[in-house]
Amino acid sequence: MSYQDFYQQSIAHPEVFWAKEAQRIDWHKPFEQVVDYSRPPFASWFVGGETNLCHNAVDRWVVKQGEKTALIAISTETPDGSPSEKTWTFRELQQEVERTAAIMIALGVGKGDCVLIYMPMIAEAMFAMLACARIGAIHSVVFGGFAANSLASRIDDAKPKLIFSADAGSRMGKVVPYKPLLDEAIRISKNKPQHVLMVDRKLAAFEHMSGRDVDYAELRAKHMEASVPVTWLKSNDISYILYTSGTTGTPKGVQRDVGGYAVALASSMETIFCGKPGETYFSTSDIGWVVGHSYIVYGPLMAGMATVMYEGVPIRPDASIWWYIVEKYQVTRMFSAPTAVRVLKKQPPELLKKHDLSSLKALYLAGEPLDEPTSTWIAAELGVPIIDNYWQTETGWPILSVAKGIEDMPTRVGSPGVPMPGYRLKLLNEHTGTRCDNNEKGVLVIEGPLPPGCLQTVFNNDERFIKSYWSNFSTEQVYSTFDWGIRDDDGYYFILGRTDDVINVAGHRLGTREIEESISSHPNVSEVAVVGVEDKLKGQVAVAFVIPKDASTTSTPQDKKQFEKEIFAVVDRQLGAVARPSRVYAVSLLPKTRSGKLLRRSIQALCEGRDPGDLTTIEDPNSLTQIKDALES
Ligand code: PRX
Repeated sequence: MSYQDFYQQSIAHPEVFWAKEAQRIDWHKPFEQVVDYSRPPFASWFVGGETNLCHNAVDRWVVKQGEKTALIAISTETPDGSPSEKTWTFRELQQEVERTAAIMIALGVGKGDCVLIYMPMIAEAMFAMLACARIGAIHSVVFGGFAANSLASRIDDAKPKLIFSADAGSRMGKVVPYKPLLDEAIRISKNKPQHVLMVDRKLAAFEHMSGRDVDYAELRAKHMEASVPVTWLKSNDISYILYTSGTTGTPKGVQRDVGGYAVALASSMETIFCGKPGETYFSTSDIGWVVGHSYIVYGPLMAGMATVMYEGVPIRPDASIWWYIVEKYQVTRMFSAPTAVRVLKKQPPELLKKHDLSSLKALYLAGEPLDEPTSTWIAAELGVPIIDNYWQTETGWPILSVAKGIEDMPTRVGSPGVPMPGYRLKLLNEHTGTRCDNNEKGVLVIEGPLPPGCLQTVFNNDERFIKSYWSNFSTEQVYSTFDWGIRDDDGYYFILGRTDDVINVAGHRLGTREIEESISSHPNVSEVAVVGVEDKLKGQVAVAFVIPKDASTTSTPQDKKQFEKEIFAVVDRQLGAVARPSRVYAVSLLPKTRSGKLLRRSIQALCEGRDPGDLTTIEDPNSLTQIKDALES
């Protein structure tokens, strides 16, 4: 079949198309209706059907290939960086998941309860996610790089009954304690979990709160023989929530279903990622991000593949570590982000030649724009196709890519590719809402219903779902990706950055408003603007311009440095080092419109050495001089 036929069928006859794709997974009870779109923009997929993600990822494969490897956990966060490795077969994985599920049940967790997972990249994190899926609990994984305030806002919104965590993570061999951040988050949150289940890695001593904190190893020992059957869930039950940044300072809980997600992953694993049972898949992402959910945990396992969970950085003990993993475990499909490739490009080239990479068939890159030099370099080094894919936490799987599992279509440098099945894409003019011609820049939108696997709603907030995503154009109700895009004459799309206040630092999605709110809590901050600025290595970095309450405190260069350090510390403590701006500049004026709206695009343009654009509405042009002077100082 050609890609065109495949895609066209998904658009012209979505019900026939998805009913067929749905046969890729096991259903406990068949669905009665493929899609219910009687209440737009809310779509319900596979209505009446019952299934389970853990069954499809684990149990199903225990029957077919129980002794094959399912999970390979590798950590180079060891004292000298030498890898510590452990593998589990599908049967062993099932056993561990059942033990974890039994622990959760013993702690009072049942179907529909939320479990917050705040964990480093260790196997127990995967057991926890799969255990939730098994018993119908809703997981909410919070990236281990986030700190107390980020964590607290997620605890308040998700109201978890149980928090699953560990004493510490580690980065570049340096221990990063988690427990103090977690204790602080619980202290400041309005909602207290009944229990905190702790994996004690013996990396950092921690305070034990009796009655609340319980030990994973101790409880595991009590449930060694546990047998916990799968809880069959309605296709439209909630599988998980995953918080992501948007225009406001409060992260949105992206809510996903069970059946639609399972079908989308099973389908994309074959049509986009060309995964085969028994092969090994290696995604370098983190379970705290959507790529980790879809293509470390659920997708590869659902395709019967072994999946690699890697704790560590790409350059320790040296930059050959990923290629060591590829050779040793015969990885066929690898998934990473452009920033990681740019990091590797700076390393001695012979490290890429140290290992036999003949098992590798393709490298998939996503999360941020893939620039031509990076793509060309890694393609030449590895000698395999580099497949860009564009999507969002909200969609759960690629919107744009090339479906190599359907047709060996050529990729086009600078473009993530063409629409994936079910995505009805359009580019609309930002102001008029009318359709753009080919080669004309517009906002990339998706017509409803969104295909299976995409967000059902914003957790506990249908109104916000409609208001944030579906109300950006008065001309029609469409889902806005908040990305600028352009389509060429052959139907390939190019992504040109965000239309909103979201920035992308090393493939990590961050909200500038969240960073601004955090900086504002410093007692000497009167006003602040944070913008994303182009960076050769990380794609973008956050830069902050701050008006101090007391200008005399930032008069000398030393004062300015001290002020910057204090701001860094506030952000590190509240949000995590991942959100720390690269620079903080003290100014006495910020560019705003006469109605008081920050001219972010102008600030960003100045930081990138571009023309600040239309300034007819600016309140005080001196504010721009301030930004320029600060940048030059
Ligand atoms: O701006 C787009 C950018 O990352 C955003 C989504 O980030 P997140 O929710 O973290 O999901 C990442 C899933 C891979 C998008 O709105 N983005 C993602 N992939 C690409 C990209 N920009 C350009 N090219 C890509 N391949």
